[in-house]
Amino acid sequence: MHGYGHFDDTAREYVILRPDTPLPWLNYLGQDEFFGLCTNTGGGYTFWRDAKLRRLTRYRYNNVPMDLGGRYLYINHNGSIWNPGWKPVQTTLDRYECRHGLGYTRITGAKGGIEVELLFFVPPGENVEIWKTTVRNTTGKPQRLTLFSFVEFCLYEALNDMTNYQRTYSIGEVEVDGSGIYHKTEYRERRDHYTLFGCTRPIDGYDTARDAFVGVHNGLHEPQVVRAGQARNSRAFGWNPIGSHQINLHLAPGASETFAFLLAYIEQGEPKFDQPYVINKTKGRQLLAKYSTPVAVDTAFEALGKVWSNLLGAYQAECPNEHANRMVNIWNQYQCLVTFNLSRTASLFETGIGRGMGFRDSNQDILGFVHMLPERARQRILDLAATQLADGTCFHQYQPLTKKGNAEIGGDFYDDHLWLILSTCAYIKETGDRAILDAPVGYADKPGSRESLLHHLETSIAYTLNHRGPHGLPLIGHADWNDCLNLNCFSKEPNESFQCAGDVDGSVAESVMIAGLFLYAAREMEQLFAWLARPDAAQRMHGHHQEMLHAVETEAWDGQWYLRAFDAESRPVGSAKCDEGKIFIESQGWCVLGGAGRDNGRALQALQSVHEHLFTPNGIILQQPAYSAYHLELGEITSYPPGVKENAGIFCHNNAWIHLALCQTGQGERALEYYLSICPSAKERQIETYRSEPYVYAQMIAGRDASCFGEAKNSWLTGTAAWTFVSVSQGLLGVQPDYEGLLIDPCIPKDWTEYKVTRRFRGVEYKITINNPDGVNRGVKCMTVDGKTVDGNRIPLFETGPVEVEVELGKALVRLPA
Ligand code: BGC
Ligand code: NOJ
Repeated sequence: MHGYGHFDDTAREYVILRPDTPLPWLNYLGQDEFFGLCTNTGGGYTFWRDAKLRRLTRYRYNNVPMDLGGRYLYINHNGSIWNPGWKPVQTTLDRYECRHGLGYTRITGAKGGIEVELLFFVPPGENVEIWKTTVRNTTGKPQRLTLFSFVEFCLYEALNDMTNYQRTYSIGEVEVDGSGIYHKTEYRERRDHYTLFGCTRPIDGYDTARDAFVGVHNGLHEPQVVRAGQARNSRAFGWNPIGSHQINLHLAPGASETFAFLLAYIEQGEPKFDQPYVINKTKGRQLLAKYSTPVAVDTAFEALGKVWSNLLGAYQAECPNEHANRMVNIWNQYQCLVTFNLSRTASLFETGIGRGMGFRDSNQDILGFVHMLPERARQRILDLAATQLADGTCFHQYQPLTKKGNAEIGGDFYDDHLWLILSTCAYIKETGDRAILDAPVGYADKPGSRESLLHHLETSIAYTLNHRGPHGLPLIGHADWNDCLNLNCFSKEPNESFQCAGDVDGSVAESVMIAGLFLYAAREMEQLFAWLARPDAAQRMHGHHQEMLHAVETEAWDGQWYLRAFDAESRPVGSAKCDEGKIFIESQGWCVLGGAGRDNGRALQALQSVHEHLFTPNGIILQQPAYSAYHLELGEITSYPPGVKENAGIFCHNNAWIHLALCQTGQGERALEYYLSICPSAKERQIETYRSEPYVYAQMIAGRDASCFGEAKNSWLTGTAAWTFVSVSQGLLGVQPDYEGLLIDPCIPKDWTEYKVTRRFRGVEYKITINNPDGVNRGVKCMTVDGKTVDGNRIPLFETGPVEVEVELGKALVRLPA
């Protein structure tokens, strides 16, 4: 317990006991297609599939106070007005508790002897957010009170909704039917969907016009209707449609009442209307009837719990570190599902109208998610591949609803295509589904084309090979993984987005990070072809690997570490010769992971340089020294003040690459120490500095050049989720899916004597116990599977389980994977 709350690992919840957290602490509702952002005060909004094109409720980013707008319940209890989640009224509560769980949030507030509990969740497979509401009279006297629910509707297209008032203030329409409020803006024309905000209990009034409910000059903390204690039964006609129900309660001493509000997205189909322009409400009424009893609501909630137990059951660890256990078993996997679903679209730092599904981001997200729901990963891989162009480059982002590449951002980030190889190979290793390689995907710029996924992978390899610079290293294009390393853009115009700025023609700027990623991808392809029994192709990939390795070792070694890049004039970036930006993290991670520096000591030297120059107790800094001034030839990276984001911030995503590299080189103590340095669960004790949610990774922690060293920012939607899950589950704990079974290759601190992992793999459960009697970091000495000794460190495939695996680590290595 620190000042704000604590973990409840048994319940798989984070418990917040003060509403005024250092930043709003967010959770997500929904796991399939219908999502809600839900903060610890109930703030946030709801959308179906696409936060830009199908936004159901409104949210104003940049609001004051922060995090205003959401799913609210107002209580008027003898003139005392409050919200169980504290906001928006901010009346001091006698008791407040918020429990963020997996796909749900439970907020309880109490005042003056009345306790209100709100449980928000989305039942599996449904397009409805349920607010289970329980109101208790904890006094010895009868109590009368009035409740008012509140949501503000968004007119679906969120960008238009917040910018085009000359139209939007004239088109809002609603219908009211019993306890159901139907938001139907544009339903008379081209929309075939509406939003239902209903209550499963009879109501005593309603409002649908914001001006009537809140008041033209009032804020959400002082709605006129709530103050008056009486709804106005307003009907929105344009302006800002809202949904609010009034419920009068009379509770005997100790009595309680339970009911639910439903916020649903409904696609209608024919017949669209009951009468001219009156919605056919059959589906809405059916939904309200379905959840009319608390039992039905509870059953749906239990189903959600089962979904999560099952998903998390794919990987469970019991190791000597409580932070690692908690993150791996609960929160890290949970965050992986969220990043898989939402990529970088909707969070408190991503507005849902900006970035869509990122090509490189979503491919990497698959690495942390594929073990949970491989079928969904399969579809995502095919969707992503379909936004690749015939030349090998990719649309950098696509819109989730349309699955079409975003032409504004375009492409030419010359790392993008290579990530598709990593996600595809991870998927096949997880499932054994080689058929995906033959799936007819086609290219985005060749309508109707049907080239296979394997063709895409080959195109990706070919693109990098065919676009190399004077040192034989891959061209960087607009940028590589580091979106801000813009070596070709030379931007002078302050209003220009670095992301959209064009590049100079014919530039020769090269990326060592892409070279390392290519090494890794080529080896993945070599292994894939070997498994496909295509030795010639495997050999060809081996040759590509060797050739690139040669370029890396001859051109990209700086003496103590790997260079980061060569700029447009072939000057080194990330070299001891540079005044600033002498050493970068990304190329150390990827060159080592790609197999560079293995036989010549450079891998160890590069990692030692990371330790000396970049590691801090708050994580590994992206580069040092920070850039103090803007450099035209380096781009956005130098636009940030020193210590944040890509300019010497701690970018948690790339930290995990180093964790994996440490594991690959057998440095178990350091791997754990580095892991804990960015692990949110380990940040509770410094939460006043850290500020972000202690249960999910943040994209960035301010580096030591910043005045707020250690402050986390941009939580939730970050590749850190997937990569740390990979680094802990496969690197540290060493359970690695492979084409023909699970490979066991842990890298742990020497004082870990024993730990266990349960892994579901291709439908079979493997219960793995790892003993370390000799106190080593790495190396499997022997292994038994269901009591039988196996040769090497691979658990063969079984048809049924559970399969008991005993592993002994030790000095006398039998074999490690190549
Ligand atoms: C950020 C990057 C991000 C990019 C995406 C930049 O401003 O610094 O982290 O990847 O925008 O558009
Ligand atoms: C965040 C972006 O989503 C990701 O694509 C990029 O690699 C990193 N920032 C680093 O710039």
